[in-house]
Amino acid sequence: MADLRSNFLGIKSPNPFWLASAPPTDKQYNVERAFKAGWGGVVWKTLGEDPEVVNVSGPRYGATHGGDRRLAGLNNIELITDRPLEVNLREIAEVKKNFPDRALVVSLMVPCEEKNWTSIVKRVEATGADGIELNFGCPHGMSERGMGSAVGQVPEYIEMVTRWCKAASRMPVIVKLTPNITDIRYPARAAHKGGADAVSLINTVSSIVSVDLDNFAPVPTIDGKGSHGGYCGPAVKPIALNMVAEIARDLETAGLPISGIGGIGTWRDAAEFIALGCGTVQVCTAVMTYGFKIVEEMIDGLSHYMDTKGFRTIDDFRGMAVPNVTDWRYLNLNYVAKAKIDQDLCIKCGRCHIACEDTSHQAITHLVNGVRHFEVKDEECVGCNLCVNVCPVDGCITMEPMKPGTIDPRTGRAVSDKYANWTTHPNNPTAVGVAAE
Ligand SMILES: Cc1cc2nc3c(=O)[nH]c(=O)nc-3n(C[C@H](O)[C@H](O)[C@H](O)COP(=O)(O)O)c2cc1C
Ligand code: SF4
Ligand code: SF4
Repeated sequence: MADLRSNFLGIKSPNPFWLASAPPTDKQYNVERAFKAGWGGVVWKTLGEDPEVVNVSGPRYGATHGGDRRLAGLNNIELITDRPLEVNLREIAEVKKNFPDRALVVSLMVPCEEKNWTSIVKRVEATGADGIELNFGCPHGMSERGMGSAVGQVPEYIEMVTRWCKAASRMPVIVKLTPNITDIRYPARAAHKGGADAVSLINTVSSIVSVDLDNFAPVPTIDGKGSHGGYCGPAVKPIALNMVAEIARDLETAGLPISGIGGIGTWRDAAEFIALGCGTVQVCTAVMTYGFKIVEEMIDGLSHYMDTKGFRTIDDFRGMAVPNVTDWRYLNLNYVAKAKIDQDLCIKCGRCHIACEDTSHQAITHLVNGVRHFEVKDEECVGCNLCVNVCPVDGCITMEPMKPGTIDPRTGRAVSDKYANWTTHPNNPTAVGVAAE
């Protein structure tokens, strides 16, 4: 039976599923119900200094939906907690007392002055909380006041504030990164240099989610105007996975603990982040959409997956995908695959043909002897995988690797069993002549 217990920076939790700092973790009433539902930990909604911030009193969310109206991405213009600091601190202490076996990390954001950070860190430490997360990610509202992503976009500030917090506290310090930056490795390195015990990512992606074509204003609209917000949910998962992988395989930050965030809603999402090196995962949008109980499926699903694979603990497969993330130039250019259509599953909708015909390589038939028939022409197929992605029937089209030694009818050449990449390719004017991995 899989053991899901997690020990992240010495912070123990019965499972790696934590709630991210957001509305579901804004008060004792919510956090205690989340713990009762089975969540292993929470990061409390970001605390700031008094007087409290003021949120808009109109719509603060926008969204994108799939064709079935399922939420694809969520956009928000909410600020940090708008409840008094004293109330939050009192509730945090009570929750920690009531649930000593759960992880309780407190997210913080105050002006970029040492005395401000030192003061709030000490007050949080007095609550008995397990750790702090520095919110250098919020892209709206707070960033205009020199906080959130305004700090997260300047590696020197990240390093400086992290160092202040490490000096002021015995608690583990997690630095939460903004994705609104060109190269995530720089802020991660800065956090590492400043002494961070871990990084967490991603916070939300700057976004305008839609424009109201009657009022000609961004959505959500407040009295005729809108501003950019932060995008999250399933749509941002690929961005988050890539950024996590970049940090996990960067020589300067390799081994730095990571808490993965961004579009996680199922055990499978969580397992992918763990495979890329994350010790815990954090969830926001999925809980805002479906409620606290989704953690039950996440626990069952992850346990079952681990049992099936023979993994006893999270550490048994944590980071296993990292060595397989590489740069494009190291991909094997001798590998050849062809699409194959399962005629028993094909419903003859024609989508693969249209996609291949108009985008790709005219490699799928639509009429054979005057009859609707969809079949791959190996002599044209470049193995691009587009048809697999547009086919509405799961598993109907598969990509089949060609065996070394067989002739690829497209090129007329035998498939080689030798690994060869762009660094050594004769078409590469800067080829070095020796294949590197
Ligand atoms: C309404 C809302 C409020 C949020 N508030 C905070 C916050 O106060 N502090 C913070 O660090 N992140 C905040 N976030 C970002 C989330 O913690 C998380 O990083 C982001 O939503 C990505 O995760 P998800 O795709 O699971 O939602 C907020 C997100 C939402 C949707
Ligand atoms: S893999 Fe690409 S080229 Fe081959 S049939 Fe599918 S869409 Fe066409
Ligand atoms: S998209 Fe899939 S189901 Fe539709 S014709 Fe092509 S193979 Fe058949």
